[in-house]
Amino acid sequence: MLLDDDASSDDEYADLDWDNLGFSIKPADYMYTMKCSKHENFKQGQLSRYANIELSPSAAVLNYGQGVYEGTKAYRTEDGRILLFRPDLNASRMKIGAERMCMPSPSVDQFVDAVKQIALANKRWVPPPGKGTLYIRPLLIGSGPVLGLGPAPEYTFLAYASPVGNYFKEGSAPLNLYIEEEFVRAAPGGAGGVKAMSNYAPVLKALIRAKSRGFSDVLYLDSVNRKNVEEVSSCNIFVVKGNVISTPATNGTILEGITRRSVIEIARDYGYQVEERVIPVDELINADQVFCTGTAVVVAPVGSITYQNKRVEFKTGSRSVYQELYSTLVGIQTGVIEDKKGWTVEV
Ligand code: COI
Repeated sequence: MLLDDDASSDDEYADLDWDNLGFSIKPADYMYTMKCSKHENFKQGQLSRYANIELSPSAAVLNYGQGVYEGTKAYRTEDGRILLFRPDLNASRMKIGAERMCMPSPSVDQFVDAVKQIALANKRWVPPPGKGTLYIRPLLIGSGPVLGLGPAPEYTFLAYASPVGNYFKEGSAPLNLYIEEEFVRAAPGGAGGVKAMSNYAPVLKALIRAKSRGFSDVLYLDSVNRKNVEEVSSCNIFVVKGNVISTPATNGTILEGITRRSVIEIARDYGYQVEERVIPVDELINADQVFCTGTAVVVAPVGSITYQNKRVEFKTGSRSVYQELYSTLVGIQTGVIEDKKGWTVEV
């Protein structure tokens, strides 16, 4: 790894208020960049100081939204190791998204190597155990210029990092979700199933409106029938009834969350019956418990859902299903629980 200067200093930790991280950008020292042209594969990337990037005003990502992104985290263990969690799955998901958006993508090895380099170069930004994580944000953008609608002639893979704490201002308190009836998030045949940048700005309108009314986030229904549960702006959703845990099937409109997939596996190990299928909103309303999953969100309990002006409350607290799944997942991610699945990667 080649660092262009000595930004990382000898201090074990960056100078930050580790007790109040929240989820806002506090750029870590280094970012990683790799470029390639339309007909090439990505080759060699490099680390440089975190800084603004230069883009043509006619870059495809700026004009037509040709871009996908990922989110993954680095965890500091009690004995001082730095772990990544299933970064190969982020790499594969970026490849699938890139294919959908007509972009070349880094190989799985290139992606994982870039994420390792970012975690290592920014080690002093990985929060102390129990205080948070280093959120790593890989981007893949059409950086070359276009005017007519078409794929860019040049692509940039870029990864930067920021220490984070809880995603929601509620901290670890239960979320209050609002079911959106005017706007939808994704439609069959669209790009809702991949992490396209263009999936996120269109949810802002509903999100801001719901937040201004005191809700934590918005839950979207399917765009065809407007009666089946899809996902939340920032995460996937799970419904618990007795011993059965259900989540909407990934049919092209639901993001294939890595936390979603891991939680499904952990829940099956615990003996729950896990179903991936269509979930009518009426079933959600009658659930025993509801929780959300995502890299940023982790596993978060839902305390209430408001639909058609009616608020329904759900069981939360230390004896709920979410708590069992949360503790196991975070235990593996942070090295507290032995990783028998080979999910963690030490950098
Ligand atoms: C993540 O969970 O990593 C995401 O990309 C969701 C984003 C809205 C923060």
